[in-house]
Amino acid sequence: MKITAISIFPEYFDVLALSLIGKAQANKRFSFKAVNLRDFTDDIHHSVDDSPYGGGAGMVMTAEPWGRAIDSEIKSRSSESSIIDLVILTPAGQRFDQQLARQMSEAEEIIFACGRYEGIDARVSDYYSQRPGIRLREISIGDYVLNGGEVAAIVMIEAIVRLLPGVLGNPESLNEESHNEIGELEYPVFTKPMVWREIPVPEVLLSGNHAEIARWRKDAQKRRGIRE
Ligand code: 6GU
Repeated sequence: MKITAISIFPEYFDVLALSLIGKAQANKRFSFKAVNLRDFTDDIHHSVDDSPYGGGAGMVMTAEPWGRAIDSEIKSRSSESSIIDLVILTPAGQRFDQQLARQMSEAEEIIFACGRYEGIDARVSDYYSQRPGIRLREISIGDYVLNGGEVAAIVMIEAIVRLLPGVLGNPESLNEESHNEIGELEYPVFTKPMVWREIPVPEVLLSGNHAEIARWRKDAQKRRGIRE
């Protein structure tokens, strides 16, 4: 999988060199490149924004630097025939969830367009939604407002890349549909010592009875009141 992020703050993406995601990159499970949007401007100030038509507060990102940056990525794609997922990060987009992460983990190439200010001129999404070879997605990571799409793109990249083959330690757990990978994390977990600050570990977990432990965990999930 090839991932590109276009942003006026490419340094945001330095965190992707850390931990499991960094290792996955070093091990060629995916490649990542951050592109500076300002490299696609041609005025002396490298400006990327202007005031909104119709008035109103804040600034809007101009279409042309985005058009050039995205076109330049499309041109350098790995294969002519492949479809590129173009993600425009916006708080008004479709909500990102585990199902979408799973779908997108099948992509060959993803470009993240990380807008700032009041967003990107709407003609950019219009234009690329009609362009052959592009699957456009406008995505939000939740109902709150961030200063830009960078952190949202990093959240998505982590959720997607950990689903790629060879990235997680135990791939079996990802494949078993019966064993929902969110649910898996939804029971409380314990490790040594057996008693901490006078609080003991639930006895059933020390019993060695796997059926009973599985039942206890299922009940604990239900007590937390989340998805089945
Ligand atoms: Cl994708 N962008 C911004 N600016 N804010 C958000 C978001 C995206 N998702 C949730 N809040």
